[in-house]
Amino acid sequence: LFAGEVTFLKGVVAMDGLPPADRPEVCFAGRSNVGKSSLINALTGRKGLARASNTPGRTQEINFFELGTSHYLVDLPGYGFAEAPKPVVEKWQRLLKAYLAGRPSLRRAFVLIDARHGAKAVDEEIMKLLDGAAVPFQAVLTKADKTRGRELEASLDKTRKVLATHPAAFPEIALTSSEKGEGLATLRAAIAAL
Ligand code: GTP
Ligand code: MG
Repeated sequence: LFAGEVTFLKGVVAMDGLPPADRPEVCFAGRSNVGKSSLINALTGRKGLARASNTPGRTQEINFFELGTSHYLVDLPGYGFAEAPKPVVEKWQRLLKAYLAGRPSLRRAFVLIDARHGAKAVDEEIMKLLDGAAVPFQAVLTKADKTRGRELEASLDKTRKVLATHPAAFPEIALTSSEKGEGLATLRAAIAAL
């Protein structure tokens, strides 16, 4: 699946702009700056496909990427703190929640969490929403290259405990580094298997 073409389809700013729900899609959710866009680039092996940057709040639309002709990969705006005006942030947060709760072709959400910190309260809010919408989700600890040892164990523990309280969560936690390539093959396989 990942060996074929990957192309940017469109950026969506309102629910009525979503493409037809005619194929399975997976989305990447998480706090601003956690590494959603970078992970899409790393998974597809296309560096500039999704725009990544060090400024939290880079992605402000729901960006659809076509994986061959059979799947969509969806890059979402972040939640939590972002460097953008408050009304703008509020608008995309509403859109993000409406999308997560109301997209019939959304087969799996990946909830990205910084491997240095583990799941936070804002992540739990999104997980609750996914529970309510019965969207299966998998936690992905990102930036694995930035941590190890005890710090990593602590955030894995913390995240495991949180996941155990969410019925829509997969118990397994993926660990990835978009910089070093860690965990990407496993994630690609999971998406291809949908
Ligand atoms: P928003 O669109 O603002 O919500 O952010 P995002 O979640 O899409 O994050 P983005 O991919 O733009 O990455 C944010 C910053 O983290 C960038 O400076 C990336 O280079 C960096 N980054 C992302 N993934 C990794 C990783 O695996 N390892 C390291 N060391 N840095 C990473
Ligand atoms: Mg982004």
